[in-house]
Amino acid sequence: MRTPFVVGNWKLNKTIAESLALVTDLKNQLGAVKGVAVGVAPVFSALHSVAKRLEGSSIATCGQNCHYEASGAWTGEVSAPLLADAGASWVIVGHSERRQFFGDTSESVGKKARAVLAANLGAIVCVGELLAERDAGRTLAVVDEQLAGGLAGIDAAGAAKIVIAYEPVWAIGTGRTATPAQAQEVHAHIRAWLANRFGAATADTIRIQYGGSVKPSNAEALMSEKDIDGALVGGASLEAADFIAIVKAARPS
Ligand code: 13P
Repeated sequence: MRTPFVVGNWKLNKTIAESLALVTDLKNQLGAVKGVAVGVAPVFSALHSVAKRLEGSSIATCGQNCHYEASGAWTGEVSAPLLADAGASWVIVGHSERRQFFGDTSESVGKKARAVLAANLGAIVCVGELLAERDAGRTLAVVDEQLAGGLAGIDAAGAAKIVIAYEPVWAIGTGRTATPAQAQEVHAHIRAWLANRFGAATADTIRIQYGGSVKPSNAEALMSEKDIDGALVGGASLEAADFIAIVKAARPS
């Protein structure tokens, strides 16, 4: 009943020309794939060109981050309304790289998520524990704290435009993916948290993506878990063939 959503997070990669080459391949080769929603998150400088190239396709263009204010004296930032103006329909907020290296906190992630919804865009809210937190048995507590902050002030109507991405930090870019069972355990916990917050009916409709070293070889096993509704893909989204294989693996069987 939930349409899986597979998003390629290109991070700080690809020129405009390289971005256009990749999305042209995706547009041509994913047109016939049904039952999966697909998005790409290019660098800001390529976002408008990518969105233009994707016009007429069902592939969504996503921002990788935004500021929580719409405009003003915030040198170097980009806002949700301006991402919408450039052609984005989704924005990723709270990615662990933003939390680790750019000072994002659960509170600021919540402000960003509210700004994204206020701009009439969908928000992909990322959560996930560090290796030390997993080893200390704190995974679920960390995720709870990140959900509470990231979804603060969002009501059930807003929840309809939210996707959660569970990305264990120790699995990002390391080649070490969570096992399907490890991921499913956290996804089920997240859905229970969402049910508690928004009600079970709404929680049942919210997609929870897995992210962290998703590849063509592990995608199907991960996404066949009951509460894994797609993927947020880093490295493997930079090559059309790998990303397309992952999208196809998400098709409901
Ligand atoms: P990798 O797929 O490269 O591990 O990155 C995952 C990620 O951070 C997606 O947002």
